[in-house]
Amino acid sequence: MKKNYLSVTDLSADQTWQVFKLAKKLKLEWKEKGKHQQNWLDNKTMAMIFEKPSLRTRLSFETALTQLGGHAIYLGPNDIGMGKRESVGDIAIVTSSMCDLIMARVFKHSTIEQLAKHSSAPVINALSDLEHPCQILADVMTIWEEKDNLQNLTVAFVGDGDNNVTNSLCLASAILGINFKCASPEKYLMSDKVIDQAKLIAKTSGSTISQSTNPIEAVEGSDVVITDTWVSMGDESEKKERLKIFMPYQVNKKLMSVAKPAAIFMHCLPAYRGNEVSSEVIDGPQSVVFLEAENRLHVQKALILYLMGLQ
Ligand code: CP
Ligand code: NVA
Repeated sequence: MKKNYLSVTDLSADQTWQVFKLAKKLKLEWKEKGKHQQNWLDNKTMAMIFEKPSLRTRLSFETALTQLGGHAIYLGPNDIGMGKRESVGDIAIVTSSMCDLIMARVFKHSTIEQLAKHSSAPVINALSDLEHPCQILADVMTIWEEKDNLQNLTVAFVGDGDNNVTNSLCLASAILGINFKCASPEKYLMSDKVIDQAKLIAKTSGSTISQSTNPIEAVEGSDVVITDTWVSMGDESEKKERLKIFMPYQVNKKLMSVAKPAAIFMHCLPAYRGNEVSSEVIDGPQSVVFLEAENRLHVQKALILYLMGLQ
């Protein structure tokens, strides 16, 4: 059966670990030899549909296809006008009749679900309003690399709780047995739906999932501190109000000082220094944001090979 990756919950803990281990192998192989043993994606094409801007996502997917011996085609909003020039279903049928894989960055999560429904090829969510699962694969791979394992770790997310990155991080933590704490302003707490789903999943892995409005309480004693922009793509009209409400949630030196001394700082980027994070933290010794960004490439190679049944 065709496999999609629309949510972090599309892979079990075992399957996620399979992807991480393959990603690590591919990363080391590429760094040592500058090529892979095999052109896994010879004659294969991936369509990359973007309704929103991107640096890392486009770079990492396109580079992944090149390094695996395949080809990627960029389709921006002005090229196909998804749902406007043509229906999402027709786009999925036509694209998957010619391409072996579809990756899409969309405004509404229902759009990626529609694509997956009508596509005969695997579909990967490259960010929707609900989830950013590929980002979180790279984040957790980075945590694994930095901390050597994922056992007895606590991740604190500070900022916009009702956000794609937060949702995927919370769910992935529940799947993989990482304790997760979120601190957001009252108006921007995580949705009950995601929190309840994560708590249910966490019953199997044994991790704890919690949220509050108190950043100090969330960060205290944590191993990883994560934030994201306060104004996600699509939220621009609320920028002024958001910047004011979120200011007490900035990750700065004072807030980092209550985490464990060996805690790392993460951010999916792009970052807005002086808003969600101070320069001294993101450019300081605890920050692993550029390693995190690079791991997008390695983990997405592994994800693609896994979804296509090539590994
Ligand atoms: N983190 C991330 O998805 O970056 P881009 O928006 O630049 O792709
Ligand atoms: N939450 C951010 C992530 C950017 C990569 C957004 O959706 O804009």
